[in-house]
Amino acid sequence: MDLKSHWERVYQTTKADRVSWFQPEATLSLELIQQVATDRASNIIDVGGGASTLVDGLLAAGYSRITVMDLSAAALTQARRRLAERQALVEWKEGDVLTADLPAAQFDVWHDRAVFHFLTEPQQRADYVAQVRHALRPGGYALVATFAEDGPTRCSGLDVARYSADALHGEFGPDFRLLESRREEHITPSGARQSFTYCLCRYEPLASARHAA
Ligand SMILES: C[S@@+](CC[C@H](N)C(=O)[O-])C[C@H]1O[C@@H](n2cnc3c(N)ncnc32)[C@H](O)[C@@H]1O
Repeated sequence: MDLKSHWERVYQTTKADRVSWFQPEATLSLELIQQVATDRASNIIDVGGGASTLVDGLLAAGYSRITVMDLSAAALTQARRRLAERQALVEWKEGDVLTADLPAAQFDVWHDRAVFHFLTEPQQRADYVAQVRHALRPGGYALVATFAEDGPTRCSGLDVARYSADALHGEFGPDFRLLESRREEHITPSGARQSFTYCLCRYEPLASARHAA
């Protein structure tokens, strides 16, 4: 299946506030990001950000270096239209998180809500973690949210993998120190309840090399 066409169709046929993952405010992501990114000049990327309102919240909080990346151009267009002139303050990237040419050691915060769980093949997850390791600066933070063990088994017609905090952290390995995990009960626009697991990790590549020595 062509995933790009799939996601383009989703955003072309469904209003941003009617998709199951819609949040009027990305409250928990904002809280956790503000906890670690105390400098408003922190370089933040929201991968698979789609038309999420996280970028609105980050701009309102005063962050000035924000990148939103997604496979779907239609999703990014929705977000840009909503932000009107504020869209010019954001860098928008259309691309696949697994293969995108991201700058090395650039980002202070890597945020992903509801993208990693679509990676059902081990090689996809390995490619994803390699991208995080490439794009995040040592000492930067990865905040990744997936469906929890008791969350849905499918989303948007696609299979997903579900994670406890330990299992999600385990996908990233010892170079990522788990600072905090949270569970969130998301209520979809149609009123269904979906459990999410959030893991906030600090990327400490040298620390794990020291342990191995
Ligand atoms: C369930 S939505 C979540 C959107 C957003 N993160 C949020 O919380 O509202 C999944 C998003 O990931 C994007 N996506 C899926 N696979 C992707 C990939 N390989 N690279 C980049 N974006 C991807 C989709 O286009 C979609 O916008």
